[in-house]
Amino acid sequence: RLVAFAAIQGAYNIVSKVEGAFKRAMDKYGPNQPLAFPNTAYYLPVIYSVLGIKVEKLADAEAVLKQCKELLPPHIKGPIHVPYLGHTLDAGMAAILAEEVFEAIRYVEDPDFYLLGEDCDVENGKIWLGAADDTIMRKRGVEFVDGSAPGFAAIVGAAPNPEIAKMIAEDYQKKNLYIFMCANQSGTTFAEQLVEAGVQVGWGTRLVPFGPDISAAVFALGFANRAAMAFGGVKPGDYATVLKYNKDRVFAFVNALGEVNAEWAANAAGAINWGFPTIADTDIPEILPTGICTYEHVVSSVPHDQMTAKSIEVRGLKVAVTEIPIPVSYGPAFEGERVRKDDVYLECGGGKTPCCELVQIADMSEVEDGRVEVIGPDIKDVKPGSRLPLAVVVQVAGRKMQEDYEPILERQIHHLVNYAQGIMHIGQRDIAWYRIGKQAVEKGFTLEHIGKILHAKYHQDFGAIFDKCQVKIYTDEKKVNEMVPLAQKAYKTRDERIEGMTDEGTETYYSCTLCQSFAPTHVCVISPERTGLCGAYNWLDCKASFEINPTGPNQPIQKGDTLDAKLGNWKGVNDFVYKASRQSVSSYNFYSIVYDPMTTCGCCECIAAVLPMCNGVMTVNRDYTGMTPSGMKFTTLAGTIGGGNVTPGFVGHSKYNVTQRKFIAGDGGLKRLVWMPKMFKDEIRERLMKRGEEIGIPNFIDMIATEENGTTEDEIYAFLEKVGHPALTMESIL
Ligand code: SF4
Ligand code: NI
Ligand code: NI
Repeated sequence: RLVAFAAIQGAYNIVSKVEGAFKRAMDKYGPNQPLAFPNTAYYLPVIYSVLGIKVEKLADAEAVLKQCKELLPPHIKGPIHVPYLGHTLDAGMAAILAEEVFEAIRYVEDPDFYLLGEDCDVENGKIWLGAADDTIMRKRGVEFVDGSAPGFAAIVGAAPNPEIAKMIAEDYQKKNLYIFMCANQSGTTFAEQLVEAGVQVGWGTRLVPFGPDISAAVFALGFANRAAMAFGGVKPGDYATVLKYNKDRVFAFVNALGEVNAEWAANAAGAINWGFPTIADTDIPEILPTGICTYEHVVSSVPHDQMTAKSIEVRGLKVAVTEIPIPVSYGPAFEGERVRKDDVYLECGGGKTPCCELVQIADMSEVEDGRVEVIGPDIKDVKPGSRLPLAVVVQVAGRKMQEDYEPILERQIHHLVNYAQGIMHIGQRDIAWYRIGKQAVEKGFTLEHIGKILHAKYHQDFGAIFDKCQVKIYTDEKKVNEMVPLAQKAYKTRDERIEGMTDEGTETYYSCTLCQSFAPTHVCVISPERTGLCGAYNWLDCKASFEINPTGPNQPIQKGDTLDAKLGNWKGVNDFVYKASRQSVSSYNFYSIVYDPMTTCGCCECIAAVLPMCNGVMTVNRDYTGMTPSGMKFTTLAGTIGGGNVTPGFVGHSKYNVTQRKFIAGDGGLKRLVWMPKMFKDEIRERLMKRGEEIGIPNFIDMIATEENGTTEDEIYAFLEKVGHPALTMESIL
């Protein structure tokens, strides 16, 4: 039981090292020095979730370290034989909590040690990303909800060489897992090995370099615990539920590569509290006896070529790998990868050549399933660095296929093509942009494979709504120039059809309970004029999703009697919500922020809040990290309302919803909007201008204040008076 002893010894070392660092920091910066990870409403997340302590300044860490010492078992001299199980787990927890304090102090001492955001700066040798901010946690956490990421592998140390590192990483990528990397082995790290092997690292490729020290393991656990609080509604301090939540829902494990020292052993013991086992390539005796769990906690001496398979087996993960008949790897982990200018073999669209994508319904007899035609030059006919015009035209046919589903299938092209390793896809419709990398071409990728991808994935994901699909890929200039205006005409007809739909004219709405796997009482109800608050689902998406999967998260709801037309309240909807929220919400309004607004699970793209002094409403998008006139940043707002409860005065909504006619219509509509971040205004500028015309105030967009006009209600009020904002003369909002 040498390792159990090592884990306890390692925890002692870690706690005492952090105590030293804490004392030095107190002397140097004083007790009031702010102590935090960047842009988060979850404080130091492991400490907050496990102990319920909100660390905001240096002095707050004292109580944490005191707890750490209490968790350390009585000092044991010399190897012990059968350690009491709880001792080792407690010691591991003490190590983790102390490490979080250590990493927070590092943010004070060396503010540039970690990068901000999702991207590594490989060119300048900066790869360590540190704590994920809330924007990243939300965006990525959702992938753990919807199953597009089954779990994560925390890789500690380094492989024997960069090739082995690359092999392990790509295998996990193919299986859609995230890799969280920390610690070094003999001066090198797994992340640096990947960079050396030419692999792109960063959140976008799911290969996340957290930090070069073992203490950075705490960022992985912090990510997991924030997901539990954000999506699972677990209360801070309820450590038993937090840990159980992770054990049951976050399929994670540790891969220890290289010699396991005492500090690593302490972290491995810590991770077992979360239900995360350690699989090592060296011979380490078991840290703990088996039997407290359905799987082993420590597995030793696993050969590198069996590492991924063994880990997945031990953690009991079900991984569905899609076989797509193309010569490159395929999966969501390759979605965020970029093809840089110098690596481009062929480029299409992106404003450089004409390009369009179109999915159209066709007659059964016109479609030969699986047929892919390339009309015009293919990869083999052009030199590296070439450009070609491109039109990707997909014809689908089937008894259940409807014109309404065309845009849904078409929108998939973006991520489905992007999933191919070495292919980059941006945009859609006539602004699509393709880059095919040299490495992909070397492996044999051709334009035909774009069609193969679409055919295979459409069948897999949408097989219930169509029977046959064929793809034509035009690169012939004359043909593409004929196709583009045809496609544009189709887009226009389609947009008009969807925008013409009204809530009044629709008897059936759709539920979405996808987020219940993380937020058990939340239910979205989606009408034509109120898209899902996460921005991912509109009414048509839900309708198609129901056709595809009749017992899935999107169920039709007969809206029934109208109880309040102005606020948007229907009997059928209320009845459904009451049941689907497990009796926790009995009624909500679609068009009001003031009176019983719809709930949010925390996935919302934006949050609106009443500004009483301005007699209006502000809204803030998730990507905006600055202060807002509500006195709260997005993260704080999300923490306040994201629990699936009705919170009058606040409502979560999608970006698109702002320019839908029914946006807070019960409270006066768009005319109430007095403040939004500039980046958000720019993003929806065109549609906002159109809506301004519709409400009879063509320059309305200029009346909405942004952070450039101020971030306090006083400043905004002054601005509103100056521009004569309509909210000031409307009836009182409250
Ligand atoms: Fe979650 Fe609502 Fe979006 Fe569905 S529509 S995924 S429940 S936020
Ligand atoms: Ni266990
Ligand atoms: Ni959600």
